[in-house]
Amino acid sequence: MNKEQLKVSFAGLYGETEDQIDLFFSPGRVNLIGEHTDYNGGYVFPCALSFGTYLLVRKNQSRKVHLATTNFDHRGEVNLDEPFEKEGKSWINYPLGVLNEFRKMALEIEGVDLLYSGDIPHGAGLSSSASIEMVTAFAMNLVFGFGLDRMELVKLSQRAENQFVGVNCGIMDQFASGMGAADHALFLNCDTLDFERVPLKLEAMKIIIANTNKRRGLADSKYNVRRAQCESAVEAIRKEKNIRHLSDLNLAEFQNLSHLIKDEEQKKRARHVITENHRTLSAIRSLHDGDIDSFGKLMNESHDSLRDDYEVTGTELDTLVDEARKINGTIGSRMTGAGFGGCTVSIVREDAVESFIRDVGKAYAEKTGLTADFYVAEIGDGSKQIN
Ligand code: GLA
Repeated sequence: MNKEQLKVSFAGLYGETEDQIDLFFSPGRVNLIGEHTDYNGGYVFPCALSFGTYLLVRKNQSRKVHLATTNFDHRGEVNLDEPFEKEGKSWINYPLGVLNEFRKMALEIEGVDLLYSGDIPHGAGLSSSASIEMVTAFAMNLVFGFGLDRMELVKLSQRAENQFVGVNCGIMDQFASGMGAADHALFLNCDTLDFERVPLKLEAMKIIIANTNKRRGLADSKYNVRRAQCESAVEAIRKEKNIRHLSDLNLAEFQNLSHLIKDEEQKKRARHVITENHRTLSAIRSLHDGDIDSFGKLMNESHDSLRDDYEVTGTELDTLVDEARKINGTIGSRMTGAGFGGCTVSIVREDAVESFIRDVGKAYAEKTGLTADFYVAEIGDGSKQIN
């Protein structure tokens, strides 16, 4: 929907008034490399997409917040004089979690009518939820003049997801949504939160996102299990070396200390995290050097480690990646995001994009009985107001 259509929908829902309507946007993200490292204090390298969530906001001179979306029928209303209550698994929990975080900081909003509209595939692992959180945080901060900076809004949105929604995610998704820049990827150290915007010079190449369209059943609980396994591995290492998280170890240190982790699964999880940090640093060096072939090779190795050591891929993601790698013109291909379904990301030579989509799509359908969706990714800006 374009801006005018959104305003028509808004007026249809909430009526016409004299008050101003403001429009905001926050994107989804795709992560190029550095997976399941963020909550381990490691490195990530995501970029913001050109699709995400739009939000129209108008003050309504009341003590009520009305929430609606063009994507689902379910609507919400909350009274600002009462505590915010979680509503089952509804999409409304994302904005409510954010409002609740503002409230905890004694930053009180007034009554508003809100209309959300997402053009990002829902539940595909491209961070539709982080984009809802970030657009809410960014919009409320401007409309009510709270004066928080982007990084504070990113952290606030992550807390909303951890504490209100109840998903123990790291900071990558909210960070990419809030801080992205067109044609740049974000190299973030999730321990210090130092970051660099790295220009993506992919001459004659495209980033292709392929959605498995596999439902990500129980993904949240499996995600939390992986986190807990990493924490147990840290505990085991602490018997000899005082580390805060797995990313305090380099490869050589890990090799010397890994015997302390008695549980074989935990050891594999830890090995993924440490090798993935190493790969991410190498990948960024390759990009700086203009060596895109090495970057692609590291993407492939990242997927293999997520499949064999972290065990978060599954048949659908593995099939998409295997088929992608058969195409002459694929530079690298891997799963992106949490895994357990969701999407892959591939770097593909421009002249091979058509055959990539046709041949990978055909083989995937034959092997899994599912239909994949393909997107040629455009790398866009982080949260912004559109007026
Ligand atoms: C999800 C989480 C992120 C990150 C990735 C895996 O997208 O929300 O914080 O942990 O999984 O890299």
